Amino acid sequence: MNIAVIIPAGGSGERLGANIPKALVQLGGRTLIEHAVAQMAPIATHVVVAAPAGFEDQFRSLLGTEVTVVTGGITRTESVKAALKTLSKEISFVLVHDAARPLASTDLARRIIKELEAGADAVIPGLKVADTIKRVNIDGFVTKTPNRTKLRAIQTPQGFTYETLVTAHKSMSDATDDAGLVEELDIPVKVILGEERALKITTPDDFQRAYRFLLGEDVMDFRVGIGTDAHAFSSDPSRALHLAGLEWPGEVGVDGHSDGDVAAHAICDALLSAAQSGDLGSHFGTSRPEYAGASGSQLLQEVRAIVDAAGFVITNVSVQIVGNRPKIGPRRQEAIDALSHALGGAPVSVSATTTDGLGFTGEGKGLSAIATALITCK
Ligand code: CTP
Ligand code: MG
Repeated sequence: MNIAVIIPAGGSGERLGANIPKALVQLGGRTLIEHAVAQMAPIATHVVVAAPAGFEDQFRSLLGTEVTVVTGGITRTESVKAALKTLSKEISFVLVHDAARPLASTDLARRIIKELEAGADAVIPGLKVADTIKRVNIDGFVTKTPNRTKLRAIQTPQGFTYETLVTAHKSMSDATDDAGLVEELDIPVKVILGEERALKITTPDDFQRAYRFLLGEDVMDFRVGIGTDAHAFSSDPSRALHLAGLEWPGEVGVDGHSDGDVAAHAICDALLSAAQSGDLGSHFGTSRPEYAGASGSQLLQEVRAIVDAAGFVITNVSVQIVGNRPKIGPRRQEAIDALSHALGGAPVSVSATTTDGLGFTGEGKGLSAIATALITCK
């Protein structure tokens, strides 16, 4: 069965207001015409695109040699006529599809063809309308309110037997769609269920909706969280310093309910906040004596389990340690490895800064850390 797809793309896209023809505007890294051709090519033996005059070569280099490019006309109907002329009589069915509907699916095209194969002469997709539609006169007065349940918003691709479309285009009328010409011949036009994703790009706002369909299931649900922690250096010289999942021999430790690992604690709070799952205090506070002296790594593991149970995976965490000592640089990789290990291998970055002698960290009274976490819904 020979199936041709005609894609009128000869418009200038006045309402979109780009300084190039609408079909050449990009949606997610691909032009609208490339999207439309990619969706229709799997069901087509011939694809004919009507390009705006002067842009034919640009269309050819974008679409490759498999696609026939003709010069479009002044109106959409003229553009379709120009494309139709290139088709031979061996074609059984012709689908006419607007470049302005880049995301109409291959599946929709297949459903149209199925109806043509079952014997219909003309098949078009349509959606029920949500708004009440009224007919008005030139003075702005309502002349009629058609019953909404009987109305459909019509999309493309529209499918026809070759004979039907050729006969319809012998008419001198100019319709906004090809089915309009077929209706004038009193040939029945069947409406099947269209698709939301076959939306037409007319104004810049339409891109927002189109993106949603384009990205589809690939859209990831990201959550970001923030956490900070601070501890004072201990007056007990025998207390060891635990920081970023490591022990730091020769450094003064900090006071605290747990091991006082400010970097690990800030990361824990960032993760819990991203997962909307409370904070360190609400999970492991003083009411849970079993966590007294818990290591930073142990808390990170516990928090990872909470984040996991809440339905998220850790995308990355980033922590900055604020203080004069210890110097983080020489053990940065060790710290990253320790924190990442506690988080099941999640990407971690560790940075450090001093505060130019200012504040409790600058005065050498203690250490603080600030962390962000990015998590993704599973
Ligand atoms: N079209 C065409 N030839 C024309 C006019 C329109 O092939 N002379 C095509 C458009 O490129 C588009 C489809 O018909 O793929 C539907 O038209 P529309 O959405 O109105 O696009 P434009 O005419 O380009 O936009 P505007 O009306 O805002 O200028
Ligand atoms: Mg137009």
